[in-house]
Amino acid sequence: MELAKTIESVRALVRQAKAEGRKVGFVPTMGALHRGHISLIEEAARQTDFVVVSIFVNPAQFGPSEDFGKYPRTLDADLKVCEKAGAAAVFVPSVGEMYPQENLAWVNVEKLCEPLCGRGRKGHFRGVATVCAKLFNIIGPDMAFFGQKDVQQAVIITRMVEDLDMPLKIVVCPTVRESDGLAMSSRNAYLNAEERRQAALLYAALKKCENMFEKEGVRQSGRLVEAMKEILRQGADIRVEYVEIVSLRDLEDIDIITDKAIAAIAAKVGGTRLIDNIILDLNRK
Ligand code: PAF
Repeated sequence: MELAKTIESVRALVRQAKAEGRKVGFVPTMGALHRGHISLIEEAARQTDFVVVSIFVNPAQFGPSEDFGKYPRTLDADLKVCEKAGAAAVFVPSVGEMYPQENLAWVNVEKLCEPLCGRGRKGHFRGVATVCAKLFNIIGPDMAFFGQKDVQQAVIITRMVEDLDMPLKIVVCPTVRESDGLAMSSRNAYLNAEERRQAALLYAALKKCENMFEKEGVRQSGRLVEAMKEILRQGADIRVEYVEIVSLRDLEDIDIITDKAIAAIAAKVGGTRLIDNIILDLNRK
């Protein structure tokens, strides 16, 4: 596995792979890799011939009061994980390499950045879309792989690629979960034992919603949201930021579900902000 720290060196590696006729897959990450990332790298290795993983904690997507400084950085372990999962190259740029001057060109996927996490994290998705556009321009992949756990991010990046005619395919892979259903996240490492126990209520709430939708035929968002909130109230350390049902395509609020929808939760468990979601699909058998 190759390690590239500069834009020039990763471009040279990809140029060589493409010259050999290989299809390039890309998995962007901020490191602190867990089984969720491994599943993305493995899927990229199944669908493409040369997988590039980027590890870059992107300052542009953190607000001033967020955890940029304390975000877990575990590079040595991450490199081993990448190699084992099938990466051909890892791109680990410095902040100066990615942002050598004040960044003035931003990608704003307008309407989609505002709801859900966008309300509490102003500028976050502008930072995510901009760094992904930069990474796509640097690496030039044929396919890029994102996890469903960050569903708003996946919807935004898919739309950015469509609207800006970027020549790559976005693949969204299923959320990987712990045995009690907690979605894998680098931020789970911040939870103490009691918070970790309560964190499982997020998925329990989503499962309740899925059951009411699929087995009882409930289509009213209000009823589904109230049922999820009731479960989250069982966690003394859980402070709900939002529980919502929105359309999958454009993240708009819906009263009655008539098409694919997302049930999404963001909550602080103790001091740690967690998100999770499921897709509600009328056509799923
Ligand atoms: O999901 C993440 O880890 C980040 O938002 C991403 C896509 C790597 C952009 O910094």
